[in-house]
Amino acid sequence: MDVNIETLIGEEEVNRRIAEMAEELSRLYEGKELKLVGILKGSVFFLSELAKRMTIPVTLDFISVSSYGNAMESNGVLKFNKDLDDPIEGQDVLLVEDILDTGRTLSQVRKILETRNPASLKIVTLLDKPSRRLVQVDLLMAGFTIPDKFVVGYGLDYAQMYRNLPYIGVIE
Ligand code: IMP
Ligand code: MG
Repeated sequence: MDVNIETLIGEEEVNRRIAEMAEELSRLYEGKELKLVGILKGSVFFLSELAKRMTIPVTLDFISVSSYGNAMESNGVLKFNKDLDDPIEGQDVLLVEDILDTGRTLSQVRKILETRNPASLKIVTLLDKPSRRLVQVDLLMAGFTIPDKFVVGYGLDYAQMYRNLPYIGVIE
C-alpha cells in the first residue's frame, strides 16, 4: 500500500501517558482485583502496555467484535466474533479500547456486559475523537483527545495494516 504516515503522537509520549494512566488506575482500584477486558484486535498493544505498568492484581479477558462498513468507518452494525472466556458477575471490570469514535461500538459492548452483573464496569480508551460522537459513552479515562483524523498504529489499523507501528500516525 502506497500511503504516507505522519506521526501524531510519538512512541515515548504514548508510553509515558499509558504509564501515567496505569498509575492512576492502580490508585483508583487499590485493594481490588481488576479484570481488564480488551476489545480485539485494536486494544491489544494499549492493554499490554497498561497491564504491565499496573501495580494491583489484574486478570485479562478478550471480546472480539467487528463493525460492518468500509476500512475507515463503521456503519454501526456490530458482529460478535468472540465472547469472553469467563463470567464477570460480581467482578470489577475495565473495558479497554483503542479509540472512541462515534461511540457505537463501546455503547453496544457495554450494554451486553452490563446484563452479566459485574460489580463495576468502566471504560478506558487510548484515544478519544469527541468531534465524531453519535452515541454518548461515559469514560473513566482517555489517553489522548485527538482531532477528526484517521489514525493508525499502536493497535489501530487501516484495512488491518499498520497495527504494529509503535507510535500513533495519521494517514495522509
Ligand atoms: P466507533 O464505534 O465509531 O466508536 O468506532 C470504534 C472503532 O472504529 C474502533 O474500535 C476502531 O476499530 C475504529 N476506528 C475509529 N476511528 C479510527 C481511526 O482513526 N483509525 C483506526 N480505526 C478507527
Ligand atoms: Mg477496533
